Amino acid sequence: QTGAITLDPGYKNSGSCKSEITFLDGEKGILRYRGYSIEDLAGKSNFIEVSYLLIFGELPTAAELDKFENTIRKYTLVNEEMKNIIDGFPKTAHPMGVLASLTSALTAFNPKSADVNNEKEMYEAVCKTMAKFLVIATWTYRKAKGYPLNYYDNTKGYVENFMQLMFGLPTAPYTPDPVVVNALDKLFILHADHEQNCSTSTVRIVGSSHAGLFASISAGVSALWGPLHGGANQAVLEMLEEIQANGGDADKYLEKAKDKNDPFRLMGFGHRVYKNFDPRAKIIKKAADDVLASLGVDDPILDIAKKLEASALEDEYFKSRNLYPNVDFYSGIIYRAMGIPTEMFTVLFAIGRLPGWIAQWKEMRVNKEPIGRPRQVYVGEQLRDFKAVNER
Ligand code: SDX
Repeated sequence: QTGAITLDPGYKNSGSCKSEITFLDGEKGILRYRGYSIEDLAGKSNFIEVSYLLIFGELPTAAELDKFENTIRKYTLVNEEMKNIIDGFPKTAHPMGVLASLTSALTAFNPKSADVNNEKEMYEAVCKTMAKFLVIATWTYRKAKGYPLNYYDNTKGYVENFMQLMFGLPTAPYTPDPVVVNALDKLFILHADHEQNCSTSTVRIVGSSHAGLFASISAGVSALWGPLHGGANQAVLEMLEEIQANGGDADKYLEKAKDKNDPFRLMGFGHRVYKNFDPRAKIIKKAADDVLASLGVDDPILDIAKKLEASALEDEYFKSRNLYPNVDFYSGIIYRAMGIPTEMFTVLFAIGRLPGWIAQWKEMRVNKEPIGRPRQVYVGEQLRDFKAVNER
């Protein structure tokens, strides 16, 4: 593979790992899930099918897809006692903190979720996690709004259920806009996996101690929450809204981002691996135009984003550092047009990333990888004699 890395013999302890799931080439801006290009999958597949591909390694036959969806439907009820846990949170709690807690709490109601000692147990654990995570993720929004918590509708599709779980109300029938469901399906595919990013590495290392899948995913949610990682999609919107509130002068913020004395960074720009355009950003930028046009939304925030991007791509500071828009730069604009509140943007990232986390955790367990134990370069004090307090 172009861009493949050679693992040092001690890779088992170096924090690197071998994987067959996702390939990305940061120089060329290439992203593939199990060998299929992200462009093909985003354009021709759907989120549940891509989830199956990531987790089991092959695009499913119609029968395999049917079995996968029906097994997920077996587990879409969440134990009613989980509502006592969510009731303990203030309405102002950030949804990612609630989601991390509820995900970990699922272990309490599914004590055997750590037992994945054969293919059947693994398959059931995978489907149970896909089912319950989606439901509790939407509960974080319902709790904040003071709305009743919704149930998954087994007659509807997975992404359509996200919308009805989020926005369905007992007072009137609810049918989500198919434009929104299709756009969300594509966005979830684009977020589904991304090799050994911060949150995925977290899921793998927590799982390497043989902690259960819910506990490992909960750790991944916490890692994703950070504004340098998945929290960036919320931070991008807050940045664009601030630029808009201050007269829309994008270039002033570009200068702030370049000022080393200013902690401000251009959110949604830069990447640890991509030193070229993030291929997902290109697809999402096009989707933003399409979705806003289909929904008849004319959002000046999108114009500010495009102006900011154009200026940054021309700017020597950004060009010399290979800083390009990443997956988070445009996604929030689409979520906002869909009526998703800003504080839920990273929860949507987590829903999209869930199959990737599951796939990577499963690969690590099936390969019987050793417990993660990254080593360090010690740069502290050499041996020295102890001094009693009156000698210090
Ligand atoms: C995600 O890893 C993944 O795959 C993550 C992800 C996934 O799918 O899982 O792709 C999702 O997390 C995308 C990234 C979302 N985060 C943001 O958009 C936050 C803004 N971006 C930056 O914080 C930053 O670019 C990071 C955190 C993404 C990368 O940080 P690095 O690796 O520390 O950046 P770098 O070392 O390559 O930076 C090189 C230079 C530095 O300046 P100098 O020391 O050379 O003078 O570029 C500067 C940085 O200060 N720089 C920026 C910048 N990003 C890097 N300057 C201004 N604005 C920025 N956004």
